[in-house]
Amino acid sequence: MKFVEASGTRVSSIGLGTWQFGSMEWGYGSRYASEDAKAIVHRALELGVNLVDTAEIYGQGRSERIVGEAIRDRRERVFLATKIFPIGLPLQVGSRARSSARRLGVDHIALYQQHWPSPLFPAGATMPRMKRLVESGLVGHIGVSNFSLKQWQDAERALGGPVLSNQVLFSLVHREPDHDMVPWAQREGRIVIAYSPLGQGLLSGKYQEAPPRNFRRFRSNFRAAGRARAGPLVEALREIALKRGATPAQVALAWLIRKPNVVAIPGASSVKQVEENVAAADVELTDDEAERLSSLAPVG
Ligand SMILES: NC(=O)c1ccc[n+]([C@@H]2O[C@H](COP(=O)([O-])OP(=O)(O)OC[C@H]3O[C@@H](n4cnc5c(N)ncnc54)[C@H](OP(=O)(O)O)[C@@H]3O)[C@@H](O)[C@H]2O)c1
Repeated sequence: MKFVEASGTRVSSIGLGTWQFGSMEWGYGSRYASEDAKAIVHRALELGVNLVDTAEIYGQGRSERIVGEAIRDRRERVFLATKIFPIGLPLQVGSRARSSARRLGVDHIALYQQHWPSPLFPAGATMPRMKRLVESGLVGHIGVSNFSLKQWQDAERALGGPVLSNQVLFSLVHREPDHDMVPWAQREGRIVIAYSPLGQGLLSGKYQEAPPRNFRRFRSNFRAAGRARAGPLVEALREIALKRGATPAQVALAWLIRKPNVVAIPGASSVKQVEENVAAADVELTDDEAERLSSLAPVG
């Protein structure tokens, strides 16, 4: 496993996303929530992952509970990240963080992230309350998610210190963070956490013929036109994967995490996928391969 070090933290380049745990929209069923999810967390930790990402909103708290149960006897190995959804008032930040900690069964959250910018309250209303969570010891670091670079910088000013990370949509089918956010994070020693790093499965190549059954089929990337647009990219992922004895999904993850200060948090529907995703940390792309993939990334 590779790690990114920033602000005194050491975060695995491949983390584990857990939106899937207990969430109706993924539709993985009750056995997944009650058994597979735990096995997925355990295998990820065994293989050197420390970053586990959840959110209060995933499955209305179910994801946090499942993660909490899974890490009960191995909390010290986890860099635990959760998120507060910006509904309600800024004065609820403290009680919401304590509720997340209770569901997770911990007295310390390594990274507490604001899930989206608030349409109602500026960073100046929320960040000082987040700072108090750090001062109280409940939280290690503050992060944001779905913030533009300017919003991230505003949040830092309001916090009066580094906002460790910004969790954003970032993959070969969503390259926007490459332009200004990633270079800034690299210069300033912050972390960009790439979510949906596999394009929700599109970049594995397995959905080129037919879309998945759950909510993903309605997303533009999974419609026939979106899949056709991604065709040349998927073909290149396949070719590079074949040469390296890897899979297209691993190559897609390797493209992301070769960038300094970028980590990826793929979700997984099975233990086998976690094993595959973690092994992407061992796939070293050449500059030519990475540039070829970048040049094929569909725009829009
Ligand atoms: N901050 C935010 O607003 C936000 C938004 C979205 C997600 N996230 C976080 O980011 C995490 C990951 O994003 P995501 O789940 O949307 O997308 P993703 O990681 O790109 O895709 C995950 C899905 O891809 C498939 N997959 C995973 N590994 C695979 C492999 N090796 N080979 C083939 N297929 C594979 C699985 O679905 P199938 O097997 O069913 O195809 C899995 O559920 C989430 O769990 C969540 O923690 C955050």
